[in-house]
Amino acid sequence: MNGIKIRGTGRGVPEHIVTNDDLARIVDTSDEWITARTGIRHRHHLQAGETITDLTVAAARGALEKAGVAPEDIGACIVATLTPETLVPSAACQVQRALGLPHDTICFDLNAACTGFLFALHTMECLLNASPRKFGLVIGAENLSRVTNWADRGTCILFGDGAGAAVVECREGWSSISAVLGCHGTGGMLRIPGPETGVPCHVYMEGTKVFKFAVEAVPWCIDQVLHRAGLTVDDVDFFVFHQANARIIDLAVRKYRIPQEKYYKNIGEYGNTSAASVPLVLSELEESGRVGPGSRVLTVAFGGGLTWGGAVVEFA
Ligand code: COA
Repeated sequence: MNGIKIRGTGRGVPEHIVTNDDLARIVDTSDEWITARTGIRHRHHLQAGETITDLTVAAARGALEKAGVAPEDIGACIVATLTPETLVPSAACQVQRALGLPHDTICFDLNAACTGFLFALHTMECLLNASPRKFGLVIGAENLSRVTNWADRGTCILFGDGAGAAVVECREGWSSISAVLGCHGTGGMLRIPGPETGVPCHVYMEGTKVFKFAVEAVPWCIDQVLHRAGLTVDDVDFFVFHQANARIIDLAVRKYRIPQEKYYKNIGEYGNTSAASVPLVLSELEESGRVGPGSRVLTVAFGGGLTWGGAVVEFA
């Protein structure tokens, strides 16, 4: 199978910022507790009149511009999300309409919770191998403030809204992203019920159990991906972690002795944006020049499902 590389990234973030002090006015919490336990200082939330579709389209447009790729060259568009604005049309079809992607562009949404962007990258690699057009749009977009229980201090402090996108290209001779993906079907420690289930459509989470799962899943994914790709930690230029809790990232960084210039945390700014978290990091890194042509990035994520995954993706 031919591999994919990233051509360009983009992002869409709501302007409205919710600080820890704002949350301390509605639940029994404090800036000190949230910062110490999670690393989150604030998060961005959509306001009335704004939609996640707007952010998704902005991220996709930014990625196309950065990549210098025209909409008519896109063979497939996948939006990883668990909070699309509308179930039908899908978020990907909304992007298709807004950007004028061709009618034979394969557009669909994918839900693998916080691991969604990695599931989408792998799916895109498979799709582009069979597509006559070799560019694809992979997007992660979430409106998590919509499924937040504002009375639950254990979860309402964690989540933010946003969208990140990458234009990828598939070429003969490029090596695969070596994606390692997995699922363990259980809603016991993390779930969001669907409509008409009789319970509010909110995040229900046993945080400490999810934390323990994540602390094991992250190194497992890193080891598996390195093994599959035939690489060592030193061969990786940059590590991009799902931004769920700064302490989870810190533990992984310590375990693998990853130097400070090889990883990045923006959880302080955005909180946990689920499927948008990895592409938001990629976009900020590319914009600041910390990754660019030739950079080899190892990315790892985990989330509800339960799901987990990792991949090695290069910038073209
Ligand atoms: N402010 C103040 N106190 C809080 C609080 C808040 N926002 N949330 C919980 N607490 C309290 C608890 O009630 C508990 O009090 P008690 O000891 O009197 O019972 C205490 O703090 C410890 O709670 P606990 O849930 O054990 O804290 P924690 O250290 O595990 O941190 C999370 C909670 C949610 C920050 C942490 O478990 C976490 O990040 N988990 C992973 C979440 C995640 O990644 N989810 C998404 C997956 S993609």
